[in-house]
Amino acid sequence: MRKNIVAGNWKMHKTHSETIALIEEIVLKKQNTSTEIIVAPTFVNLQTAVTISEGNNITVAAQNMHQAEGGAFTGEISASMLTNIGVNTVILGHSERRAYFHETDALLANKVDTALKHNMRVIFCFGEELKDRQINNHFNVVEYQLRDALFHLQKSDWSNIILAYEPVWAIGTGETASPEQAQEMHAFIRSLIEKVYGNDVAENVSILYGGSVKPENAKEIFSKKDVDGGLIGGAALKADDFLAIVNGF
Ligand code: PGA
Repeated sequence: MRKNIVAGNWKMHKTHSETIALIEEIVLKKQNTSTEIIVAPTFVNLQTAVTISEGNNITVAAQNMHQAEGGAFTGEISASMLTNIGVNTVILGHSERRAYFHETDALLANKVDTALKHNMRVIFCFGEELKDRQINNHFNVVEYQLRDALFHLQKSDWSNIILAYEPVWAIGTGETASPEQAQEMHAFIRSLIEKVYGNDVAENVSILYGGSVKPENAKEIFSKKDVDGGLIGGAALKADDFLAIVNGF
């Protein structure tokens, strides 16, 4: 059975004290739910986030990670640095990493391998740009992204993969894919995975939608059969909004 997940990608927001305040408010206000709640603060605040989240059914994730085990990579963070402080989930391939830091699917394939080697779970982000959708090339783009970054994996690796379909034109723009557009793409992704890995992998992988998810639209998007949750940017920065989205299931 696949899991419902709502993950907050905090990007380069929230200082240390703001991180403490936001997680404490989430802990205080959250209701009992079977939906997994994930928060992804920036690197320097991860350890504190882990300490506050422990025992409160909140998972802490990193927003990125380097592919090497270690070495002369100034400013970078390795998988073992993350797992050593209790961070066992990492977001990889976010469109901002792809656009501003030139991350390619080939590089992401390496990052995914390193994360899995360290027994981490990967939230793998992908999605088309507006220009792709305008020429009706969005299914191809998504297929190539998945193929190039993930389809070298073994079947057993997929228990540690969470997919996050994030059409770039919907991220931070206020423009959301319609629930029907999300469902259409999620169904396509699941069918693709079924073709390559079989029905059991396809049925068990959680596919999140990301891109301007808000309390007002979450319920309808999450009601779609192949949408198993969301990756939330802007609306994850306020506890009430984030929890309203969590309660959208
Ligand atoms: P947004 O960001 O919810 O602010 O559109 C989503 C994301 O970047 O993951």
